[in-house]
Amino acid sequence: METALPISATEQAMQLEWNYGAHNYHPVPVVLTRGEGVFVWDVENKRYFDFLSAYSAVSQGHCHPRIINAFIQQAQRLTLTSRAFYNDKTGICEKFLCEYFGYDKALLMNSGAEGGETALKLTRKWAYLVKGIPQDQAKTVYAAGNFWGRTLAAISSSTDPSSTRDFGPLLPGYIIIPYNDLTALEETFKRDPNIAGFMVEPIQGEAGVVVPDEGYLRGVRELCTKYNVLFIADEVQTGIGRTGKRLACDYEEVKPDLLVLGKALSGGTMPVSAVLTSDEVMLTIKPGEHGSTYGGNPLACAVTMEALQVVKDENLADNAMAMGEVFRSRMTALSQKTELVKSVRGKGLLNAIVISERPEYGKETAWEICLKLRDNGLLTKPTHGDKIRFAPPLVINEDQVHEACDIIEKTILNF
Ligand SMILES: Cc1ncc(COP(=O)(O)O)c(C=O)c1O
Repeated sequence: METALPISATEQAMQLEWNYGAHNYHPVPVVLTRGEGVFVWDVENKRYFDFLSAYSAVSQGHCHPRIINAFIQQAQRLTLTSRAFYNDKTGICEKFLCEYFGYDKALLMNSGAEGGETALKLTRKWAYLVKGIPQDQAKTVYAAGNFWGRTLAAISSSTDPSSTRDFGPLLPGYIIIPYNDLTALEETFKRDPNIAGFMVEPIQGEAGVVVPDEGYLRGVRELCTKYNVLFIADEVQTGIGRTGKRLACDYEEVKPDLLVLGKALSGGTMPVSAVLTSDEVMLTIKPGEHGSTYGGNPLACAVTMEALQVVKDENLADNAMAMGEVFRSRMTALSQKTELVKSVRGKGLLNAIVISERPEYGKETAWEICLKLRDNGLLTKPTHGDKIRFAPPLVINEDQVHEACDIIEKTILNF
């Protein structure tokens, strides 16, 4: 009689998820158990460069000692009061956020999707109470290819059928226009006096790191001002140093009316999102009209302040700018050695390469490359089929960038 071979720790963990978890993700087959800085280790104790950083949430590096210390200190003292009562951290954190990003008021939530939804609710309130749009007629505009989460409000603006299929009916009052198209934006604003807001990512992350033309954000700012429409910047992925500036909007020196942040706000320790805006917009929402049990909890607030202070103290935006240059020049050089890499794009440490399909792998080419990258000690995942995103923690140093680029180069040239 044959005896079953013992299954590895990796297979065991993956089987558990398969047997007991929803099948709503398609992860790269690797089971992680530990992280430090730019590295993660799997359950077999193999080390990898993390070139996804939990979709840019772990920008400060895995388990940053200062952030973890702030977490522990606060966790031992007070974690949650709900907003039924005041606590001694929320106000300090709101002040910190307003001063850090230059706004009047902040509203703290948890996930990035909730941040986006909060911005949308504020925009609709403002539409009725300030702009004077007739009740229930307010519209919001989005760019094709956008991604801001998985709630019904978020997917209602999605142009990706896998996000929306069999989830209808979607929310009304949405208009979708092409990304990076100021003419379409102005025509839309001109045509409809009931438009309250335009929500846009300064660089589209999930769409495959799509960088708009220079001047796009400035144009958006001007058109929003001209037509009295709120400019909502979704910087959940691009913000907090990721693209080489404090915010991606800083490249064009524009200030959105509403700024949505998430992910790296907590350095990858817990879900924290925030919307920052003016008194005019924020004070349209009155007590009892919006909130969340965990939103603005003292633990989140303590961690957020430390996570943002770390970005400043360690000059992580400047490092992202410098390391991004090194990374893209290595990838551009690689693209000249192989037809597999069609193009290289990105800003700071939010980058992607576009892969040309190999006949034997078809649409799975980028996925197969990611499996080989994993074998060679670097983790990332394709986004939108033929693009591979590279977004390491911003604490990466130049030697590490070169070591990672050596892995990518070797993997792609041997593919
Ligand atoms: C630009 C952008 N906005 C919003 C979100 C949603 O964030 P969360 O997954 O925390 O809901 C994401 C997530 O990838 C994002 O990339």
